[in-house]
Amino acid sequence: MARRDASTPGPDVLVVGGGLIGLLSARELALAGARVEVVDDRQEGAASPNAAGMIAPIAESIADQAFARISIRSRNLWRDLAPALERESGMSIDYDDSGSLLPVLDPDGRKVLDRIKAQALGLGETARDLDRAELRELVPDLRPGIEEALLLPGEHRVDNRLATTAAAAALRHRNVVVHRATVERVAEAPGQVVASGDGFERAADAVVVCGGAWTPRVQGLPALPIVPVKGQMIAFDGIDWPFTGAIRTPAFYAVRRAGGRLLIGASVEHAGFDLGLSDEVGADLAAGAAALLPALRDRKPVEHWAGLRPGTPDPWPIVGRLSQRLHVATGHFRNGILLAPLTARMIAPLVLDEQPDDPWLAIPEVMLPDRFSGAGHLSP
Ligand code: GLY
Repeated sequence: MARRDASTPGPDVLVVGGGLIGLLSARELALAGARVEVVDDRQEGAASPNAAGMIAPIAESIADQAFARISIRSRNLWRDLAPALERESGMSIDYDDSGSLLPVLDPDGRKVLDRIKAQALGLGETARDLDRAELRELVPDLRPGIEEALLLPGEHRVDNRLATTAAAAALRHRNVVVHRATVERVAEAPGQVVASGDGFERAADAVVVCGGAWTPRVQGLPALPIVPVKGQMIAFDGIDWPFTGAIRTPAFYAVRRAGGRLLIGASVEHAGFDLGLSDEVGADLAAGAAALLPALRDRKPVEHWAGLRPGTPDPWPIVGRLSQRLHVATGHFRNGILLAPLTARMIAPLVLDEQPDDPWLAIPEVMLPDRFSGAGHLSP
């Protein structure tokens, strides 16, 4: 991408979508010296503020070593990104590196956890068995009968709402403009791309669409196979166990927040763009969590909400070039918060036609949009 002459109005790059992936991509582009702007319409149900904020490269990638390796790199980037975002925004993002705790619920569960442990160790990660006493010290409320657990200390978590707010503040700190509008279409014109809709029109040398589940609604893009996958969650207050990370079972996860909040998630529902809350799903989440953590039986959830994950036909997101000036970074399904830093580091040099700082920042083929071109997608 040739940078715009400083006298030409409009940015070098317009990022469409102000979720964490769009905001961090804009930040990387700004750090590389590009004039960048963001346009976002604050969609209700957007994934970034409605996710659980787990940065779980092992537990979320059990079946796929390649996915785990990529995820570990993004987790590593979070270690530096978290303090940088806090510095630039002047706010805490409640980043926590105490790990994921996977209790052993039955003999089959032990076998599954042994496989996860072997995978973690094989990837150079740490995994540690906890006995009953260690476990009770971390989570005194666990139901009697649970005697052991696996701790994955390399799994982190962040308050995704705070992180998204901080990423937007970090852009303001760099004088990056964030417009409030819905982009309905993108159109390539000689030497530029024009994004428009909702009374908004902006031309830029290049556009990156980070629209999450709403990406296919932007006209002018090839047909991308992204579908909304709804996740309902609930939250309890007043939790004060020493362990401040995530507890995971095959049925649900329970993720701490500063201030004593505990998030329980999540349903996986193919319901289009519906964001309706079901009492039944909320009750199932609460019952599942209370079966492991009986103290929750006496509490009422303080929040129940839903978000839309952008799902793709395979486990991978869609990151890369769609045409000379048009790019996409979306489709992260359950792993948007985890993969946001790596995605931003991958997409920025591609958009700017620069070599990435490290060979592993080259976008792997499994993520490229053209992997779907033989499947009837990616036709304009
Ligand atoms: N990453 C957790 C979820 O999507 O529910």
